Parts: sequence; C-alpha cells; structure tokens
Amino acid sequence: MPDRGFDIVIQGAGLQALETAVSLAKARRKVLVAEQSPKPGGRNVAFRRGQYEFETGLPGHEEGELCYADAVAMDFRLRELGSEVWYDRAITKTDENSVTLSDGAVVPCGDIITDFTPDAELIGRTFTVFLGLDVPAEALGVKHEPSGEIHDLELPGNARGGGCVLQLTKYLPRGAFDAVTEADYFRWKDRTAREIVETFEKETGADLRSHIEEIDAATPATWARKLLPPDHPGRARRLANALHPPIQHVVVAEITEREFAKSYRLVPDKEKGTEKLAVFRAGQYITLKLSVDGRTIWKPYSIQSGPGDVLAEDGGSYTVTIRRALGGLGSGYVLDHWQVGTRVDISAPMGDFYYSPLRDSRQVLALAGGSGITPYFSLVSAIADGIEDFSMTILYGSRTASGILLREELEELAERCQGKVKIVHVISDEEPEGYEHGLISREILKKYAPAGDTTVYLSGGGDFREYAEKETTVLRLPRRRLRHEMFGEVKDGRSMPDWPGDIKEGDFAVTVLGEDRTWSLRCRAGQSLMDAMEHGGVGASFRCRSGECGWCRTKLISGEVYVVPASDGRPKGDPDNGWIHPCGTFPLGDVTLELPRRE
Ligand SMILES: Cc1cc2nc3c(=O)[nH]c(=O)nc-3n(C[C@H](O)[C@H](O)[C@H](O)COP(=O)(O)OP(=O)(O)OC[C@H]3O[C@@H](n4cnc5c(N)ncnc54)[C@H](O)[C@@H]3O)c2cc1C
Ligand code: FES
Repeated sequence: MPDRGFDIVIQGAGLQALETAVSLAKARRKVLVAEQSPKPGGRNVAFRRGQYEFETGLPGHEEGELCYADAVAMDFRLRELGSEVWYDRAITKTDENSVTLSDGAVVPCGDIITDFTPDAELIGRTFTVFLGLDVPAEALGVKHEPSGEIHDLELPGNARGGGCVLQLTKYLPRGAFDAVTEADYFRWKDRTAREIVETFEKETGADLRSHIEEIDAATPATWARKLLPPDHPGRARRLANALHPPIQHVVVAEITEREFAKSYRLVPDKEKGTEKLAVFRAGQYITLKLSVDGRTIWKPYSIQSGPGDVLAEDGGSYTVTIRRALGGLGSGYVLDHWQVGTRVDISAPMGDFYYSPLRDSRQVLALAGGSGITPYFSLVSAIADGIEDFSMTILYGSRTASGILLREELEELAERCQGKVKIVHVISDEEPEGYEHGLISREILKKYAPAGDTTVYLSGGGDFREYAEKETTVLRLPRRRLRHEMFGEVKDGRSMPDWPGDIKEGDFAVTVLGEDRTWSLRCRAGQSLMDAMEHGGVGASFRCRSGECGWCRTKLISGEVYVVPASDGRPKGDPDNGWIHPCGTFPLGDVTLELPRRE
C-alpha cells in the first residue's frame, strides 16, 4: 500500500489516536494521521494554569497500567518511524480505499480508523487531577511506582520556572458519580482529588502536597463535556450541561444603590428558558453580554454573593456589584440603564480565583483594592455558610471611609464566621481615626500577616495589583503562596514596558474572516484586536478580557502582533501555529484573522 499511499489513515491526532498510530507504526505499518486542528493532541487538548500547561488526554484503560503520553513526543516518534501526521486537514470523505481531505487531496490507503471516542461508561467514572508542582519530578522523592488504582501520567519536560506537571487518573467505582448532586459537586471534587493525591503519596512515598502550585481536576462531568455530544443522555453529560450552560438568561430582581456603584441581584429568566442558575465556587466571575450603542460587548464581574444563594429552590440568584469606571463604557451603561426587570444574558461562572484546600494554606491574607473586594465577599459568605473552611484576614484598601464598598454587609457577614474572618480597612485619601492610613504597604502587611503558613490573594485593578505584588515580596512567600485575580484588560498596548518602541501612531487594516462573512476594520496603534472587533460589530464573544481564559482563541492568518506577556494564557503549541487571544493582542501592522468555528 505505501506505494500508493498509506496502510492506514487515522482521523484525528488525539492522544488515543496517536498511541494507536505509534503502535501500528512500530509494527511496520505506514500510517497517516490527519488532524483538522493545528496541533498534536487535537482540538483543545491542553490548557494553561499560570505557568503550567496540562494536557487533557485520558490514559489507557487497563487497570493498573502506568501510562505516559505526550502528544508532541508521540508526533515525533511517529515521524521517526516513517509515518506522517498532517495538521489543519480534516477528512471530508471516506471511500473504501481512499480518504479525501479538506484541501481536496485524495489519499489512497488500506484501512481507515475514524472513531476514537472512549466508551461513555468509562468517561462516566474517570477522575483526573492535574498538578503543577514547584519542583522538578526528581525532587519529589518518588520511591516506588504507583500500583493499583491510580494511573500516573507524568509528562516529560519541566514546566517553566523549574516545576513539573503530574497528572493522576482514577477510574471510580461504577455508579459512584451518579450519587453526586450539583449542590455537593465542588466539595465532592475537592474530596476526591485529595483522596487520589493521598493514595499516590502513600503508594510512592512522594510528597506532593508541599509542592502544589496549580491544581485542577477533571471529573466525569468534565470529560463528558469534552468527549460526549451535548445531547448524550448519560448522567455525566447532563451534569456537565447544568454546570456549564453556554448562556444563562437572567432578570434583574433587585438593585441596591451605593456610592459610585450599584449591586444587582440576578435571578433566572424562566420565560426565556433558564430554570435555575449554574452553581459556582466562591471567587468566580460571570461575564455580562451588553448591547451598548448597537454594539455587543462582554464584561466580566465577580459574583459577590455566596455560593449558597444559587441553591435556593426558586432557581437561585447571583449578585454583582459594579463600580462606575470613569468614562467606562460597560459599567456606565449598566449603572445608567439597568432597572428591576431588565433582561440580560450572562455566561456560566468561570475563573480559578477560588480557595483550593489542597493547594492553599488554611490561612489566607487577602488584599483588596476597591471593587476587588467582591470575590472576597463571596468567600466570606461561603465561610459563614459552612461551605468553605479556612480563615481569612482581609486588608481592604479604599480612598475614603465613607466610600468603602459593601462595608456594613461585609462586617455583618464576618461576624457570622466565628472568628475566622478579620477585616482591616486601609484608607488612602484621608486619616480617619480607627483605620490604617495610606496604601497597603509592606509595613501594614508585616503588621497583619498571620504567623505561619499563609496564602496571599490579590484582587483589584491593574495598578493595585502591580503595587501590591511588589509590597508582598516583604513576606518572602514561596511562589505557590501568591494568587491573584485576572490581570484585567490592557487598554493601551503602548503602555506596556516591552511594547515595540517604533509603533506609536497610525492605524492598521484588520480583516476578519467569519464562517459566512468578512469584516474589514481599522485598529489604532495600541488598541487591542478585541476592542477593534467589538467596535466593528464582529460576532465574537469574550469572557475574561485578560488573555487568560482562552475563550476568544482566534487564528492569525497574517500580520505581526504584540501579545501582553504577563497574561498570555496560550498553550505552548498555539503561538507557533498562529493562534492568538485578541483580548490581549495588539496589531503592529495590517492583519488578517479567522474566527474559529463554534460547535
Ligand atoms: C475577573 C474580573 C472580575 C471583575 N469584577 C468586577 C467587579 O466585581 N466589580 C467591578 O466594578 N468591576 C469588576 N471588574 C472590572 C470590569 O470587568 C470592567 O473592567 C470595569 O467595569 C470597567 O469596564 P467599563 O466597560 O466600564 O470601562 P471601559 O470602557 O473598559 O474603560 C475602563 C477605563 O479605561 C479607560 N480607557 C478607555 N479607553 C482607554 C484607552 N484607550 N486608553 C486608556 N484608558 C482608556 C476608561 O476611561 C475607563 O476609566 C472585573 C474584572 C475582571 C477581569
Ligand atoms: S476572553 Fe479570555 S482569553 Fe480572551
């Protein structure tokens, strides 16, 4: 067959497909893997958390099997064995002895393998813990290989900054996931992750828990969302749909006026089909879809209310508190236009600024600047309701004592926390008695930082974060003890220290290719591609607006761009393959973009 083409064509370069391809190539078969996305592992195979990149492949299914899988390494190996992997080419037609690809090529072949979807029953009981560890693998002190029920998938290559990545998978007993309710989902997730980590430590003698810098877990619902069609009737896929609705329709039920801000309680819009709101972890945010002057913009706001509020029988509620940004488009629009009864579309809850009992210490020192208090408000509610269990000292910076956002409610909530929450107000523009004065300086940090192991959280706008991050160096924390909320939108790329100096003025042509239309836009030097797309009415949607969540991932077909390094959340294969996040990307000349197909 190789004279005419390939012995076997495999559709898709997912991890299972690559593993199969390597085994066949080792057995001297000439294999072609055709993948429609641009990189090994297939679409959305990797995700970034801080400086760690995690690959989301399921290990093999044999009980007790130890699995090593790395898409890039397998791609390499296949080529060494004389087989091929072609990216950016989908199989559009299969015939008995050939396949037709999206570029029109007809490739002769013996056999065709098209289906690598793992079995739904197995997906419904697969649990994977992804760990970014702050030491290299050799320093973990692994004395034995894991045996029994934990599958360990350690990816080669150290993570940036000298750490490593470890991925542990366990197949849960049959039926175990059926008993997990939405209300208990996150606690169950934390508990199961802990059990897996502890089992691995016991079996191997390794110390993982002293080194966890980033953690995430894929439950059966996560895997089902990734691997099974949305209408799959299984429990895992149904729970995934409830946890991650593509959109939620809500109505403003209540408005509380504040100085320079308003709080909005949002409830499900049952008439439009949202019966109940998705559950969330205290600290997460939602993104509001706003229609301003005929344009659609998406703006993220932390959910200020506690996760308990979403569990109410009537479908629950989220509260957001929005402060007016001077000249701000989204906040100005909401504060001036929203009334009780206003109907809004919002995203599902997102973000990883939440308390993780495996990663964080039992003591948190939380620094807030202005409206940066909102995620902490939710965390304090969760402590008061017994949903979270840790202690928190909040250093809360405001300009004036009268302008402290949410002050009374927060203090009332803290009183319900049995001494676990302490709030210190730091006032910058006046010197009222009984308050700390100035900015949240290193002196104030030293004065209030609890003794012993402490995790520091930072939440507030760009300047606050930059300042606070510098001041926290006085606490000499290991890197894994410092966490922060999203970077926030960069308004003008030219303000970044590494902005290419010669691009100061002028504007560029931006061509955006959609599935069924093309937009021709202009983008000023220093303006983000997201901003130009929103102004030009391109039907793209955004979530974090900070370069980190990956929601706006778009193909750069041509042209030069600047990407904000501090918030570049792209997995390692993406920059080389021309993928950008327009919310953190600025053109340096004329560019052409292609919107990804939305499934
Ligand atoms: C995860 C997350 C959670 C958040 N939670 C909250 C929250 O709970 N409450 C809250 O109030 N906010 C929150 N924010 C911030 C919020 O998303 C918006 O950024 C904020 O409301 C301002 O948006 P805007 O549309 O009103 O202002 P924008 O129109 O985006 O303008 C913001 C500021 O930039 C200035 N500006 C505009 N264009 C330029 C330019 N070219 N150059 C320089 N400056 C310019 C404007 O004058 C204004 O002062 C959160 C952000 C994130 C990422
Ligand atoms: S919206 Fe999150 S990366 Fe662009």
